[in-house]
Amino acid sequence: MARIVIEGGRPLSGEVRVGGAKNAALPIMAATLLCGETVHLSNVPRLNDVVTMQKVLRALGATCEWEGPGRLKVNADGGIQEEAPYELVKTMRASFFVMGPLLARLKRARVPLPGGCAIGVRPVNIHLKGFEALGARVSIDGGFAVAVADRLVGTRIHLDFPSVGATENLMMAACLAEGSTTIENAAQEPEIVDLGDFLNAMGGRVQGAGGPTIQIEGVERLRGVSYRVIPDRIDAGTFLVLGALTRGPLTVCDAHPAHQVAVIAKLREMGATIEVTDDRITVEAPARLKGIEVKTLPYPGFPTDMQAQLTVAMCLAQGTSLVTETVFENRFMHTAELVRMGANLSIRDRTVVINGVDHLTGCPVSASDLRAGAAMVMAGLVAEGKTEVGNVHHIDRGYENLVERLTGLGARITRIEDPAPGPDNHRR
Ligand code: EPZ
Repeated sequence: MARIVIEGGRPLSGEVRVGGAKNAALPIMAATLLCGETVHLSNVPRLNDVVTMQKVLRALGATCEWEGPGRLKVNADGGIQEEAPYELVKTMRASFFVMGPLLARLKRARVPLPGGCAIGVRPVNIHLKGFEALGARVSIDGGFAVAVADRLVGTRIHLDFPSVGATENLMMAACLAEGSTTIENAAQEPEIVDLGDFLNAMGGRVQGAGGPTIQIEGVERLRGVSYRVIPDRIDAGTFLVLGALTRGPLTVCDAHPAHQVAVIAKLREMGATIEVTDDRITVEAPARLKGIEVKTLPYPGFPTDMQAQLTVAMCLAQGTSLVTETVFENRFMHTAELVRMGANLSIRDRTVVINGVDHLTGCPVSASDLRAGAAMVMAGLVAEGKTEVGNVHHIDRGYENLVERLTGLGARITRIEDPAPGPDNHRR
């Protein structure tokens, strides 16, 4: 068990580098199962979720090794097996992304249904409906989703919701189907574009990724390729909000400003000044930000994965702010911890009403999920006194070298590895 201890209230400024995008690397790693040749990936973040996906690929019969910092070599030419192990899938929902590639490559797939998590039930009905539309017979057997097809035939698929994972799974399944597939109401996130670019680099024929309608022409086979993953827009956005919160100036390097339009717009609305070049974004802010209203939406709307982080900034902003979460049904777990630090807020249905206070006070808090954990660290950095964040393993899923990077900006922050909990060790 690990925890992060922060002495808050210190000004943060300087430059921070953004790593590769977790939510692009995971589907791209799954997509390597579509071909029987070696794939070299670069700019892959060394995160717990990536290591889990590495294990899933190995369990399916592929080789997946680090070749150097950020560089993975994957080869799935051996006997790939159709069943993904429950022990791994239960720890990371994104493991379900292997279902589309397995179905496309083997015409059979048996993948444990991913459980829900802190932020919601997170069903996969849209994924399964899409597989059926492509000609698979889908059933649920002992907690596993099972799909079997004589052949996959391209078709028109309309998604009930622009699900990121369903769009990705179906893009991968359609790549080796016979004929043309149209995915309507598709998710438009930059990670979808990155997957489409990767599939095309392997010889796929994907058009329209990043828009609401994606066209995929099935091909006979895909080939090995070298590919670089895009920067992580949520890692970048987290540091942009932190820069506004601690006044900066803070510069995020190696980012794609085009992926930050909604976040930059909201920070400017709160009173921050933001300068943008081709791969650097610098944020500065006045002593106190202004409260605003924000609603999370599928891309290009304001990202749900940035909601907890912006909420922290609103807790200290002038006036009242409203945060409405429209993507997940239970993504306000961080608010109770913020109240313990002195935030003044209340929840009505899917909206948090926040009355800005002039300071937060450090105390022991706990991370409930990946982005809530990042929000707790941010709150500790601006709070008066000491904050201790528990359940840090959530944060390790999505932020590489977070303590080191924050230290480089002037934070007084340390990570403490506690001994495994035993009979007399009752830490929260
Ligand atoms: C991806 O999850 C991301 N994860 C999430 O990031 C992100 O929050 C989410 O997209 C939304 O942007 C990865 O890319 C690995 P969805 P995903 O399918 O694909 C409902 C993080 O912090 N839905 O777009 O699981 C679902 O319940 C993580 O990095 C169905 O009802 O998200 C949710 O309410 C957290 N049926 C909504 O759609 C389905 O079959 C959005 O889910 C699929 C989804």
